[in-house]
Parts: sequence; C-alpha cells; structure tokens
Amino acid sequence: MHKTPRKAVFPVAGLGTRFLPATKAVPKEMLTVVDKPVIQYAVDEAVEAGIEHFVFVTGRGKGAIEDHFDLAYELEATLKARGKTAEIEMLKPTRPAAGAASFVRQQEPLGLGHAVWCARDIVGDEPFLLALPDMLIHAPRGCFAQMMDVYKAHGGNVIAVEEVPHEHVNRYGVVALDEKFDDRTARITGMVEKPRIEDAPSNLIISGRYILQPEIFAKLETQKPGAGGEIQLTDAMIALMAEQNFFSYTFEGTTYDCGDKIGFLSANFALALDREDIAAKFRPVAEALLKR
Ligand code: G1P
Repeated sequence: MHKTPRKAVFPVAGLGTRFLPATKAVPKEMLTVVDKPVIQYAVDEAVEAGIEHFVFVTGRGKGAIEDHFDLAYELEATLKARGKTAEIEMLKPTRPAAGAASFVRQQEPLGLGHAVWCARDIVGDEPFLLALPDMLIHAPRGCFAQMMDVYKAHGGNVIAVEEVPHEHVNRYGVVALDEKFDDRTARITGMVEKPRIEDAPSNLIISGRYILQPEIFAKLETQKPGAGGEIQLTDAMIALMAEQNFFSYTFEGTTYDCGDKIGFLSANFALALDREDIAAKFRPVAEALLKR
C-alpha cells in the first residue's frame, strides 16, 4: 500500500506581468474563466481527487486568494436575508473547511522549486499533490483523480505529461521515457527544464500536475539555480530520480495555459461552449464574431 496523498500545494506567488494592467491589483490566479477564478479550477480538481488540505504558496498582494477561500460572512448573510439560497449553495463547495487551508509566503521570487520548498513544513513527511494553477486542465474526470489511479498502482512520483508541437518544447520541462506500462503510463528516465529545441529528448512536456514524495524537499533545499537563473523543481526531481521511481501519465483532457493571453482566451471560449447553461446563447454569438 502506498501512502495516500492528503495535501495539495498551489504555488500562487507569480506576479502575472503578462496580464498587466489586469494584474496590478488582482492576482492573476483570480482572473475568471467563465465565472470561476483560475485557481478554483485547480482546487476543485484536488478536491475531486480526495485532497483534505490545501497549501497556497503566496506573496505580497495575493490577499484576494485568501479571501476567496474563506467564508464571506457579510455576503452570505446578505444572500440569506434576500432568500438567495441557490447562490449560497453554489458558494459552499468552493471553499475548504475551516482549518483545511494554509497560506505561506514565498517572500522572494527565486523560482518554482523554491516556491514548493516553502511548503515543506506544512506538507511534512507525506506524499503530496502539486498543481500549477495557470495550467487549467479541462477533462471529464479531473487530471489529479486520473493520476491517483496511477499512484495507487505504482507508488513513487507521478507527473502529468502531454505532447506539444516540437517547436514549443523550449517553454517547458521535457521528459524522456522508456518502459511503457500501458498507453498512458511509462517510466521516466530523464527530464530537462526548458531545453533548446534541438536538445529536447521528446515533445512530451510536464503539464503542471505532480504527485511527489516528501524527499523532494531535501533535494530542493540544496538545489542550485538552473534554467533562467531560478531554482527549478525539475532539477530537484532529476536528483530524486537517482533514488525513487518517476512515472509519466498522459492524461485525458485539454490544457489551457492561462498564464498566456491566448491560452486564457481559449479557456474562456472552450469552457463557455461546454457549459450547458451558457452554450446555447454563447455559440451563435461566437459564430457571428468569428465571421467578422
Ligand atoms: C513550470 C515547470 C515546467 C512545466 C511548466 C508547465 O515552468 O518548471 O517544467 O513544464 O511549469 O507550465 P514555468 O511555466 O513556471 O516556467
């Protein structure tokens, strides 16, 4: 039996400079896709996978995230007084239970590896989930729930991967695989963060969903800066690969990189077209706009 992950970590300290001026006063994770903030999609995915505790690695100016996952007492009292029970019911599943969310500040933007390391005391000596919320994964069954099946079968560390056009590999972490267990699951034999296109071992990229063992924290502790001068999670995972298994999982679903304008707009467009309550009205509008 492999110890079941109970906690999920969400690095949300990034400045969101690609979305200025929108992100001057609003964290990029609070930008909405249809009617939910980007961060809520990642949290809901973790909830679906059975996660009990949510760890947010934040920074200055990210208070709206903390408020979002809190009980909005005045709002709910007002809704109640007005008999708006549907709205109250809608809010309930969006927030973790009291005591089930932790917030820790990264203090300095030293890289993703450093952000994850900042969660070490709260995660403790347990396997955990890590979600990079910019990567919104739209799937009939959440990516984390799918990955949990792989973890139950194989243990170790599990990383969600997907194919991208070869000319885009330099934007991501890229994996090399050997032994395949099935169509979607394989053993990872190598990783490289932001390789040059000609050096990439494949076009399978790390998609921003991980199940990691706590030993990663000791590797992060001594990790030297890598690509872009930042402390890279991928480099610490490479170090841990010498001691533990890493499995790749090609998930079912579509990724929208909401840290990028085109990805963000695509997510809004695609998710609106998939929403029963909106699609019928949105589709003709979208079609008319595309004819302009
Ligand atoms: C991070 C990871 C990278 C991964 C990517 C997914 O990079 O370091 O391995 O492929 O997220 O979005 P970042 O986007 O923070 O540069």
